[in-house]
Amino acid sequence: MEPTPHTPLAGRRILLAVDAGPEAFEAPALARALIRAGATVQIAARPEVEAWVRTLTLEAVSRGPVAHSADELRRGGFQAELVIAHPVGPDLLALAAAGREVDAASAALLRSPRRLISLARGLPDHPWVRAHAEALAEVSAVLGPGAAIEALVEAAAAAFPPRDLEGARVLVTAGPTREHLDPVRFISNPSTGKMGYALAAACAARGASVLLVSGPTALPCPAGVRRLEVVSAAELAGAVQAHEEGVDLFIATAAVGDYRPAAAAPQKIKKGEGPMQLTLERTPDVLREFSERARALPRPPILVGFAAETEEVEAYGRQKLASKGVDLIVANEVSGAQGAFGRDDNAVWLVSEAGSRPLPRASKGALAHQILDEVAPLVAARAKEPA
Ligand code: CTP
Repeated sequence: MEPTPHTPLAGRRILLAVDAGPEAFEAPALARALIRAGATVQIAARPEVEAWVRTLTLEAVSRGPVAHSADELRRGGFQAELVIAHPVGPDLLALAAAGREVDAASAALLRSPRRLISLARGLPDHPWVRAHAEALAEVSAVLGPGAAIEALVEAAAAAFPPRDLEGARVLVTAGPTREHLDPVRFISNPSTGKMGYALAAACAARGASVLLVSGPTALPCPAGVRRLEVVSAAELAGAVQAHEEGVDLFIATAAVGDYRPAAAAPQKIKKGEGPMQLTLERTPDVLREFSERARALPRPPILVGFAAETEEVEAYGRQKLASKGVDLIVANEVSGAQGAFGRDDNAVWLVSEAGSRPLPRASKGALAHQILDEVAPLVAARAKEPA
C-alpha cells in the first residue's frame, strides 16, 4: 500500500535567517524550495549579506520585505513556526551563543520555537562549534557544514512530523547484544543502534509513548522516550516480555546475537598454548517468540522486524516476513562500505504481504519517518478492529 503523502511544510511559516558568506548565495534557491513545498517564507538577513546576494533578489523570492534589524523583524510580526539559519558562520554562532541580539538574524535565532542550524562550510570541526550549534538547535537539528538544499528541506519537513501515532504504545529494541565468555570478553556485532534510536525518536515525535529496550550503545536516549538498558539476548528477551502487555506496535531493530557461549566463566579465562574451542548455544529469537505470543491475542500488535543481510537482501527479507510472522520487514544490507552498521544513512527494502518497495538512501532519521509512514496506517487500522 502506498502511504498517503504527508505534506509537512504546507502552510508552515518559516523564517530563514541568512548569515554573510558564500552559502548566502543559496538562500534564494532554499527559499524557493521551501515555498514550492507549501511554506510561507520570511527572510532575516544580516546587513553584510548584501555583499553576497542582493536584498532585491531575496525580496523577490520570498515575496515580501527582508528584515535586516531586530526592530524590522519585530515590526513585521511574522510568527515563525521554524527558523532555518543558513548559513551560520562563526560570528552569528558566537552572537547567538552569547545571547546577543544585534540584527534580524541573531534575533531570529534567539526567539524562535524550533531551530534548524546549517553550519557554514568554513567553520572548523571543533567541539565548541558543535556544542553551541547543538544547544541552539534544541528541538531541531544541526546540519554539518555545506548541507545541500534538499537536506535542509528534508530536515525542515522532519521538524513537523504527523501526529499519527498519538496515544499508541510502542516497544522498540535497538543496538547490539553482548554474550560474555568471561567478565572481560564477549561476542557481539558492529550495530550502533542508530536506526532503532531514530525509529524510537520518530515514534515519540509522532505522538506515541515509547519504550526503547537497548543493548550497549554510545547514543543518548531520544527526547520523550523511556529507555531500558540490557546487555545480553536473554536480558533483552526478558525486558521485552516484561513490557509487552498493551503494546500497539513492536519494532525489532536490535541486532540480537543468535548464539552465546554455553557456559560463561566467572573469572577471566587464562590463555593456554593450544587452540581454544568454544561451545555456543542458541539465544532466544525475541521477535519470533513475541509474534507467537501476540498471535494468541484478540487484537495483536503490529509487528515490524528488520532483516540484516549480506546478499539477496529482498529475498531473505521476504523469507523473514513469513518465518517471523510479522506485518513488515525492513531489509537492509549490512556488509561492505555502504553496509548499514554504524552509518548515519541507509537504503532499505520494505517487504510486506502487499509486495516489496525500495526506500532509496537517506539519513536514518528520514528513513525512520518513511518507515512509519507505512506503519502508522496499519496501527490505526488495527486499533479500529474489535478486540
Ligand atoms: N531478532 C530477534 N532475536 C534474535 C534474532 C533476531 O529479535 N535472536 C530480530 C531482529 O531484531 C530483527 C529480525 O529478528 O528484527 C531479524 O534479525 P536478523 O539478524 O536479520 O536475522 P536472524 O533471525 O538472526 O536470522 P539469520 O541470522 O539466519 O539471518
